[in-house]
Amino acid sequence: MAASPSTAPAPSSSASAAAAFAVNGERVELREGGCGACVVLLSAYDAASGAVSHAAVSSCLTLVHGLHHRAVTTTEGLGRAGAGGLHAVHERLAGFHASQCGFCTPGVCMSLAAALAAAEAKAKAQAGRRPDDPPEGFAARLTAAEAERAVAGNLCRCTGYRPIADACKSFAADVDLEDLGLNSFWRKGDAHASKLPRYDEGSIGVFPEFLKAEIKASSWVDDLYTPPALVGGGSTWHRPRSVEEYYKLVGSELFGESRTKVVVGNTASGVYRETEVHDRYIDLRCIPELNSVSKEANGVQIGAAVSISQAIEILRVEAGGCHDVIFCKIADHMEKVASLFVRNTASLGGNLIMAQRDQFASDIATILLAAGSSICIQASSRRLTVTLEDFLQMPPCDHKTLLLSIYIPRWTPIGSLSGGKTMDGTVSKIGTSVLFETYRAAPRPLGNAVAYLNSAFLAQVSSDETSSSLILRELCLAFGAYGSQHAIRARNVEKLLVGKPITASVLLEACRLVKETIVPKEGTRHAAYRSSLAVAFLFTFLYPVTEGTLKPVKAVHLNGYVTSGTNGNPNCGPDAHVDVSLKKINDVNSGSCTNDRILEYSNQIIEINKDYLPVGIPAKKVGAELQASGEAVFVDDIPSPKDCVYGASIYSTKPLAHVKSIELDLSLKQLKTPGVVTVKDIPEGGSNVGANTIFGPEPLFGDPITQCAGEPLGVVIAETQRFANIAAKRAVIDYSTENLDAPILSIEESVKRCSYFETPPFLLPQKIGDFSKGMAEADQKIYSEGCFVRQFDLRINYFNVKLNSQYYFYMETQAALAIPDEDNCMVVYSSSQCPETAQNVIAKCLGLPCHNVRVITRRVGGGFGGKAVRSLPVATACALAAFKLCRPVRMYLDRKTDMIVTGGRHPMKICYSVGFKADGKITALHIDLFINAGMTKDVSLIIPHNFIEALKKYNWGAFSYEAKVCKTNISTKSAMRGPGEVQGSYVAEAIIEHVASTLSADANLVRHRNLHTVESLALFHSECSEDATGYTLHSICDQVTASENYQHQLETIQSFNKNNKWKKRGLSFVPIVHKVLSRPTPGKVSILNDGSIAVEVGGIELGQGLWTKVKQMAAFGLGQLCPDRSQELLERIRVIQADTLSNVQGGWTAGSTTSESSCEAVRLACNVLVDRLKPVKEQFQEKQGNVSWDELISKAIMIGVDLSAREYYVPGPFGSYLNYGAATSEVEIDLLTGASTIVRSDLIYDCGQSLNPAVDLGQVEGAFVQGIGYFMNEEYVTNSDGLLISDGTWTYKIPTVDTIPKQFNVKLLNSGFHKKRVLSSKASGEPPLLLAASVHCATREAIRAARNEPHCSVFGPSPSHFDLEVPAVMPVVKELCGLDSVERYLENLLTSE
Ligand SMILES: Cc1cc2nc3c(=O)[nH]c(=O)nc-3n(C[C@H](O)[C@H](O)[C@H](O)COP(=O)(O)OP(=O)(O)OC[C@H]3O[C@@H](n4cnc5c(N)ncnc54)[C@H](O)[C@@H]3O)c2cc1C
Ligand code: FES
Repeated sequence: MAASPSTAPAPSSSASAAAAFAVNGERVELREGGCGACVVLLSAYDAASGAVSHAAVSSCLTLVHGLHHRAVTTTEGLGRAGAGGLHAVHERLAGFHASQCGFCTPGVCMSLAAALAAAEAKAKAQAGRRPDDPPEGFAARLTAAEAERAVAGNLCRCTGYRPIADACKSFAADVDLEDLGLNSFWRKGDAHASKLPRYDEGSIGVFPEFLKAEIKASSWVDDLYTPPALVGGGSTWHRPRSVEEYYKLVGSELFGESRTKVVVGNTASGVYRETEVHDRYIDLRCIPELNSVSKEANGVQIGAAVSISQAIEILRVEAGGCHDVIFCKIADHMEKVASLFVRNTASLGGNLIMAQRDQFASDIATILLAAGSSICIQASSRRLTVTLEDFLQMPPCDHKTLLLSIYIPRWTPIGSLSGGKTMDGTVSKIGTSVLFETYRAAPRPLGNAVAYLNSAFLAQVSSDETSSSLILRELCLAFGAYGSQHAIRARNVEKLLVGKPITASVLLEACRLVKETIVPKEGTRHAAYRSSLAVAFLFTFLYPVTEGTLKPVKAVHLNGYVTSGTNGNPNCGPDAHVDVSLKKINDVNSGSCTNDRILEYSNQIIEINKDYLPVGIPAKKVGAELQASGEAVFVDDIPSPKDCVYGASIYSTKPLAHVKSIELDLSLKQLKTPGVVTVKDIPEGGSNVGANTIFGPEPLFGDPITQCAGEPLGVVIAETQRFANIAAKRAVIDYSTENLDAPILSIEESVKRCSYFETPPFLLPQKIGDFSKGMAEADQKIYSEGCFVRQFDLRINYFNVKLNSQYYFYMETQAALAIPDEDNCMVVYSSSQCPETAQNVIAKCLGLPCHNVRVITRRVGGGFGGKAVRSLPVATACALAAFKLCRPVRMYLDRKTDMIVTGGRHPMKICYSVGFKADGKITALHIDLFINAGMTKDVSLIIPHNFIEALKKYNWGAFSYEAKVCKTNISTKSAMRGPGEVQGSYVAEAIIEHVASTLSADANLVRHRNLHTVESLALFHSECSEDATGYTLHSICDQVTASENYQHQLETIQSFNKNNKWKKRGLSFVPIVHKVLSRPTPGKVSILNDGSIAVEVGGIELGQGLWTKVKQMAAFGLGQLCPDRSQELLERIRVIQADTLSNVQGGWTAGSTTSESSCEAVRLACNVLVDRLKPVKEQFQEKQGNVSWDELISKAIMIGVDLSAREYYVPGPFGSYLNYGAATSEVEIDLLTGASTIVRSDLIYDCGQSLNPAVDLGQVEGAFVQGIGYFMNEEYVTNSDGLLISDGTWTYKIPTVDTIPKQFNVKLLNSGFHKKRVLSSKASGEPPLLLAASVHCATREAIRAARNEPHCSVFGPSPSHFDLEVPAVMPVVKELCGLDSVERYLENLLTSE
């Protein structure tokens, strides 16, 4: 095997590819194949043709020995800043501001690089350049749509994807460069390809010549001998060359005894997390039969080891430009399976085996079942061909069954000339047409998400000779992934339909029968929704050919009136006008939407402030190139010191229990686990403390009683991280619940048992006015059904709003490396937002003075609040283990453990009572707020304050509240980006909408009516009073809603809703007022001998661009010494990692203000240096005129000037201020599937005088998309013990590039000079997240429009007021539009006839 840049042999067969190479670029954080952070380029050389092929693959799923004779290119292999120079891919990602924390960036680079290499290979196949070839500097043949799709499987939690998409599109041949977003290459209106870093064809994936030679030399040898098993790291790798050889192997004694794994692409290890250690691998890919493709007149036979990507290509070729609709649509659907970098190695056979044996929710089984496929299997000496349907129904195959090939038949209309297949094998004289369609409803449109339900339908249709109706002659209806054992044919429904004219009443009967047939097994989530999807898809398939529903031809969507594999998001549902003439049906249209752009349009408006240059310029993020090229070092990239061992957390799975013992699984002896670290290992003088906040400490390990499922109980130590993870997962914990009360798992239970944490009064915001008086003034009132205004009692039976948790999903999970040092000292590298607190907690746990503990943090791969308090237990446990073992210990949590132990956003339940006038003016509001804090306080006691402050964005007249912080037995909840504020701001919108719907008024008018005046703002936010110029919200709202665009949008939506029965749109506008608070922060500036400058700040670089702003500020501060050269100084400044023994009182990086506080501290430190250096300069100037920076520094050193200054910025009384912004969003919902598409979002955010508009814009977009995740996508699901079960990329779906607004416009408002803020700037990290509520509110508007349709009017007190859950995932939306809307539609149709 070979790899670029490393060509070292792999350490072990079982090691994943990325782990095998000593490079930082590829991040093996998930091992699920679901995030794309570890994508590399895999290149293969075909000795016979001399061709090199390239594919993106997920290195966490790719086994090292599977790379034999392949070349691997990591992002470092493309280029490095340190050596040889960066590649255009790196430079453009950095220049388009597409890297924030940078943890995802290497994977993004490699997905893009693979797309470029593939486009090039395609172009090479066409000899010579053609006149329409793209100009030099662009990629050959890469279209903008392909460029966007290249990164569709890559997760990024920071950027919001828009800049990533733009960087990718900069390589596309068909892009208008002016359409690309803010970048550091040109100003708007001045775009030109020559300004982009040059991209040279052939610069990606150069296949090493030595390896070509080796491959050429080895191929004939391979033909002669079967090579012996390869051995590495105690495991053996076997590559049988024939079916016989395979059976010889598995028949040997070795196979029976050992833990053997049979693999092709090994992607199943991403689906089923491995808790086994294998010591024998059998790779099926060298068996020629499994790789062969045989094209026959009646169909195509594909070897089982052929990858899904190859199968797509084969089917596309066989479809002959989509003359064969079935092949074409199967290929389209397959493009929605997983992501490209999984499909490139995942085999067809592997998928079908998983479907058959493991009940995997396969798409491939369903679509091939509908296409009438058969398979060839070998069971020991027996070979048989069976239909796929029979295969799926067989008992689960054991490892001795080999799937050899899959046969997909061609279908031709009965009675046509070619001898295609009919379902019963007979030939009919009647002329028929073949209809084939596939569907999937999944949380993401472009794949990378398993479907709620998939289906594929095949029909032979003909005209009835006596009537104009169409008759289904033959039919196959396949459904899968809905919570069944495997994909099935709904034969009873087929039977009902075949031979009958398709009328509305027949269709209705079929829909009812399908609902009774497609029933998920017990315990399946959203079961009723899945059944209703089956109805929706059948209806979508048959309605256009149903008698009496045919419409005149307008838009022709032939043989696929619904786009295939649309995520249930059809471009044209039954609303579309369809020509069903048989001739037209047989003319095939692929329905593929691969040329559709994901992002249609985006615009960024910024205003650069030049008062404090270089502060204010949209400079590129510091280190962005290093992040792209993989040279940036995160904690897990630090090379492991000698004797380093690895730790993994063992956590409780019970909510409240005595932990009697923890035992390791003895069958895992070979993992060489030195043991478990528990509370017993805390040294004398130390204490069981794992975190600390101003509200008190929390334990490191649950001992002797665990307080929640997910509480850490100990750490397993092993010689590799993987072994430690496996051992931790298989640890056996003995619990007892003797003499313990039942755990408190809900807010309701906590209220019942009065289990609260007391909030200190100083943290509770003021109430305003007299609530009773306000209510008395109201024309109308809404009382909470719980009726417990001002007191909490057991009558709480209804909450107006329920909000669940959200997980941080930073891309770098919690990580720490602890290294014991001399004299009882400990050095800990921690991925933490608060190293200073980590130092305190570690010292306390180990019983050491703080000066014995040094915590170092260079950068954090995304924090969002989750690397504040929740990083402390990991750093502390790691330090404790290192202390006990006197060896370095590293911990890097796997995603599941991270999700389970770190908690997340606070769940809440809220009741409100509100009074209002007939014109929508609210006169009084009372809120009862219940916050689920989990088992410890963390920082939960500030959440009521944050909630109420954000809720006070409107003038409620009189305002009162009660807040309770509930102590429960669930995992501790901590601050997550906009903690409390996002919920408070959202609840304000929910109240406004409730008022509006009660009055039957436009919610946006009610919003406007209740915005604060300057006077009411001063009353509600007395400590941050604002004058009229500072209060920019009204002008922002006017800009957003008074524009022509907005009015036009409203009218277009109304007409859209009038003309569409199955799709509806909604528009909403949401303003925000968000208070932030600055905290004291240190800054240290040191000028070194050569004039270079090192800056240390309290703030940590989390991706928010803190270092970039600090660097600009240092250049501005020291630039006072050389005003015209401050830009040059920028190049001489380096911001260095945080070190708790070098820069003390570092504090926390949290609350959006740490960048500006760190900047201010640095400015103050610079002022001190300027004061010291100014006299030296003046002296010098007097003597010799002009003086350079270097001369000045040399002179200062000579005369003994102290060139290091440290200042501690204390914000004082102006520490808090208000942020303003507003957003409008337009959302389209699909009533059949519940899918939502964000058609457009327009944001205006007041950033003051931005310190760096590029950085702030990135924060605004990224926060908004993270908010979309909270409101629309991310389901946080726990079991009955409170243990998180949506615990990985399979079940927890953060936004991807295909779920962000299709039109995404952001304006940063420069509200000018403000003496109370740091150089007049404002915060940008958290407030814009609140704006994402606009997407949820727009969805509600769309649902409201749907409920006006007779078939969707759902019973209830009011069709226009309803609870729309957060997140508004597809099942939630569909439920509110009626799970039986199809049946009701058909019933209405029949009764109106
Ligand atoms: C992130 C991710 C997302 C996914 N999303 C989807 C999706 O949306 N829809 C969907 O349908 N699938 C999806 N998949 C599943 C994916 O298609 C399968 O994991 C893949 O096809 C399995 O192929 P493989 O070659 O990697 O199998 P391997 O992992 O190598 O093997 C899987 C199992 O099959 C056995 N096996 C493999 N080949 C044979 C054979 N020829 N004969 C006998 N036994 C064999 C192996 O022993 C093993 O037990 C997803 C997978 C991942 C990782
Ligand atoms: S920049 Fe993509 S995850 Fe941080």
